[in-house]
Amino acid sequence: MIDGKTRVCGLIGNPVEHSCSPLIHNAISEILGINMVYATFKVEKDMVCDAVRGAYALNILGMNVTVPHKQEVLKSLVETDPLAEAIGAVNTLVRADGGYKGYNTDILGLYRSLVEEGVRLSGEHVILLGAGGASRAIAFLCADKGADKVYLLNRTVEKAEVIANEVNRKMQRNVIVPMALADYQEIPKGNYLCIQTTSVGLHPNDGDVVIEDEAFYENIHTGYDIIYNPYETRFMKMVKKHGGRAFNGLKMLLYQAVAAYELWNDIEVEKAVSNQVFERLKKELEIHD
Ligand code: ATR
Repeated sequence: MIDGKTRVCGLIGNPVEHSCSPLIHNAISEILGINMVYATFKVEKDMVCDAVRGAYALNILGMNVTVPHKQEVLKSLVETDPLAEAIGAVNTLVRADGGYKGYNTDILGLYRSLVEEGVRLSGEHVILLGAGGASRAIAFLCADKGADKVYLLNRTVEKAEVIANEVNRKMQRNVIVPMALADYQEIPKGNYLCIQTTSVGLHPNDGDVVIEDEAFYENIHTGYDIIYNPYETRFMKMVKKHGGRAFNGLKMLLYQAVAAYELWNDIEVEKAVSNQVFERLKKELEIHD
């Protein structure tokens, strides 16, 4: 029940009405009996700083930030977590002295889901498909966690080069190798973890896949698609067909929220609770497996 002691958290972005975050956060609160409510706030681009200041003034406990404000919001923070700073994007604001501290729980969520599935980054050879916002964060994560080499492939090679230069400079080693997507056959033969971050294959284009060539998938031991709709993408099917393990991005979505919830409430959400929320999320998204 909402009462005088209810703490408020929320999501700022535009659009926000189709977000799964209210479901996840409110489910955690309900299961744990924590008096917190999570709502969405549609915020226009030129109002991001006002929104953050207003939220602080209203004693709002924490905020999530989504597209298109993840970079813009950096300007209105009193402190930024070093990994979020390096990535240059923040999706979670945590109340601190005089304002909010920014974190990137998108990447913490991805890492947590990889760990849970037993997927290593340390010492790995990685192929990263796409060079948008998600890829940029994942490139930093791979470098930070000790990946040996990351081939970063994008249709527009210049965007891959920008990310590679930045990560290699910050990490002081040549870990990211930028390439044009069309040149994928130049990747040395090997045993790769492949992370798919393009929008190719997203519903309703379920039949699409960014690389059609069957031979490509023979070198993939694990495929991770950040798409979760469809639940099994064509990319995942192709990885499996060639003997690899494949995962979708729904756990990443779940754990970015769980990580934010933990930061706001200074608690650890147990795996059993996350699993319960995951089942509710699948039900909401009408996923049957
Ligand atoms: P996000 O922030 O989720 O990573 P994004 O920034 O919109 O999303 O990035 C979308 C990615 O999908 C980009 O890497 C894009 O390639 P370009 O940079 O060349 O545009 C990639 N992408 C989208 N449609 C594609 C297609 N038909 N073929 C190959 N790559 C595609």
